[in-house]
Amino acid sequence: MQPQFDLTLSADVPLGGTCLLPGDKSLSHRAALFAALAEGESVIDRFLVSGVTHAMLNALDALGIVWHLDDSRLTVQGRGLRGFTPPAAPLDCGNSATTIRLLAGALAAAGTPCTLDGSAGLRRRPMDRITAPLLRMGVPITSSDGCAPLTLAARAASHPLTAVDETLPVASAQVKSCLILAALAADGESTLREPGPSRDHTERMLAAMGADIRVEGRAVTVAPLLQPLTPLRMTLPGDISSAAFLLVAAALVPGSELCVRDVGVNPTRTGILDVLREMGARITVENPRVVAGEPVGDIRLVAAPLQAVRVGGDTVVRMIDEFPVFAVAACFASGVTEVHDAEELRYKETDRISVLCGELKTLGVQVAERRDGFTIKGGTLTGGACDAHGDHRLAMSLALAGLAAPAPVTVHHAEILNESFPGFVEQLRELGVSVRAGSKESSESK
Ligand code: S3P
Repeated sequence: MQPQFDLTLSADVPLGGTCLLPGDKSLSHRAALFAALAEGESVIDRFLVSGVTHAMLNALDALGIVWHLDDSRLTVQGRGLRGFTPPAAPLDCGNSATTIRLLAGALAAAGTPCTLDGSAGLRRRPMDRITAPLLRMGVPITSSDGCAPLTLAARAASHPLTAVDETLPVASAQVKSCLILAALAADGESTLREPGPSRDHTERMLAAMGADIRVEGRAVTVAPLLQPLTPLRMTLPGDISSAAFLLVAAALVPGSELCVRDVGVNPTRTGILDVLREMGARITVENPRVVAGEPVGDIRLVAAPLQAVRVGGDTVVRMIDEFPVFAVAACFASGVTEVHDAEELRYKETDRISVLCGELKTLGVQVAERRDGFTIKGGTLTGGACDAHGDHRLAMSLALAGLAAPAPVTVHHAEILNESFPGFVEQLRELGVSVRAGSKESSESK
């Protein structure tokens, strides 16, 4: 358990500076797991060391994979697609849906008997979206009413999984990745069709490691793995989902200018840049380059007055994790912002429509919740105290509201931010933000 702390941010001066962020969370999860499935030693630099990635590393440890973390350099001794040792106890995936869903796919391919479990929050997240298609592939998997714990029975190497042609019910990279991993052990080519452009890091990374994966429009075709995956040697880019907090922070404070260096700008992740631009923020991506198959750039933002926008369709998928921080930006935009087609937000760390709207309301915002989104009337946030509800992105987003609110905003239980962005507070302080972080008893100025 991390010590509880409350967070209050304020900006007395414009924000300015250049920052370098920890590695991307999605890529860190994949790099650790795929390295375990390769044969030989992988070296991954700028690995994200955080609560959720430790869940993946601990699970790999329990599956007999040897890894070593030296600062942010992760070294993994891969043992091949069927190299896991059956663990002695259920694997604790903590709060990490990426860990449980991707591991389920890898364990299905490996045929390793195992139970996957996690926190109370993780046990509430839907798992039938992976168990139903895995069952169709012949994976011996059970769940607890469509949720964790998930249990996989042993499967002999002589029994390959059944190749499938699946249309995924939701645009979810976690579901797609789970099935891609299982398809590596199928008896023929599998095709996965998705309704929207979810992040494609798995396709890019596995293809770079030698897997036969072809993408045509929204269909991914995966051939069974005939040769071992090649180990990884890569430096991960910074996480655009973490960069989004700093970009919105700067966008909220007039006169701010910020550059976040070496950030992943994979087009399946850059919806937030498009939307902030449409709102009026001046954003440029400088030095575009490709590192280990992933587009990378330096993102510069110059603050300018923000206007309300309407977000829906594919853009929702391309910024699925950025709605809490986007909503805070919308609170300070002129006009009424509308979000549509975003029901998937209800299945994240919290119900990110209802909890977000509820907390914004406590800060005075005129917000209306709908089944698939919400509307926010800009200029109505007054300030006050709110709660992170065990959701790391909610903690950071709500705290940023204090940078532009007429009265202080305090977020209770903000310690959860370490799940994905340790260093958030230090980074903001370096940019010129005043930070008060402390327990209720000993609120200290830092
Ligand atoms: C992730 C995919 C997204 C995202 C999550 C990380 C991934 O979830 O919300 O934070 O690494 O694949 P879904 O794929 O379920 O939308």
